[in-house]
Amino acid sequence: MQTSGVFEISKELRERFALSSSVLVLTGAGVSAESGVPTFRGGGQTAIWKGMPFDVISSARMVERDLPAVWEWFDYRRNLLEKLSPNPAHDAMARWQARFSDFTLVTQNIDGLHQRAGSRDVLELHGSIWRARCNGCGSLTELHSQDNDERPPVCFECGNSKRPDVVLFGEMLPAGVFERAVERATRCELCFVVGTSAIVYPAAALPEIARSSGAYLVEVNPERTPLSSICDEVIQGKAGEILPFFDQ
Ligand code: OAD
Repeated sequence: MQTSGVFEISKELRERFALSSSVLVLTGAGVSAESGVPTFRGGGQTAIWKGMPFDVISSARMVERDLPAVWEWFDYRRNLLEKLSPNPAHDAMARWQARFSDFTLVTQNIDGLHQRAGSRDVLELHGSIWRARCNGCGSLTELHSQDNDERPPVCFECGNSKRPDVVLFGEMLPAGVFERAVERATRCELCFVVGTSAIVYPAAALPEIARSSGAYLVEVNPERTPLSSICDEVIQGKAGEILPFFDQ
């Protein structure tokens, strides 16, 4: 057992980390907490934007009712995010992609911090705040923090309005991405679940699928979650303090 004084990584997990070739990591808002991004449920905060609760302004209904207001909210968040940086947990996972021959990073986060740390081919279950999607033809465009386009922006291809390419309350996941994540979860040998309350489905099903397909399941979170009881190991603590320990 290796211990930092606060948390412990078992000898078995160290050996599995050294010997596994197929690894999957599922991340949630907690992985960006040490970068300064508020979690959804961890802090007990209820975000209010101009009098509207977070789940109202971030809803499919609001896209239909007031798309410019939805843009204003996501522009505000993008501008805040631009000032934040990836933390040691993002950095560690970016290093892991070179270490394992079959590495998959699946995230519920839309903040783009994994990519800014150097992760590639991230499976973004809930989309990205750094992309816009056309309501008509579905074409995607990159967004920048200081985007001075009209709101809502108009698609050059078909003339329809564009919306943020994120999954809003009341919407389905983007086609194909969850299926790819399930396929990787089924074949991984080692699965980490980092910084998610594991209550939002279908994302929370991925660790269950990995575990039932024979993977060794490890949770990294300061608090216990509904997944903790099926994990082979629960490492209680902050992702930015724990994950860098694995490649030391
Ligand atoms: P939550 O806010 O539900 O959970 C964040 C988790 O991170 C909690 O379990 C915290 O204990 C944990 N945590 C906090 N700080 C941490 C740290 N430094 N290191 C590791 N863990 C830490 O966020 P998610 O589980 O990501 O969906 O929420 C899932 C989905 O719910 C979101 O993607 C969003 C929301 O509805 C959509 O917007 C579609």
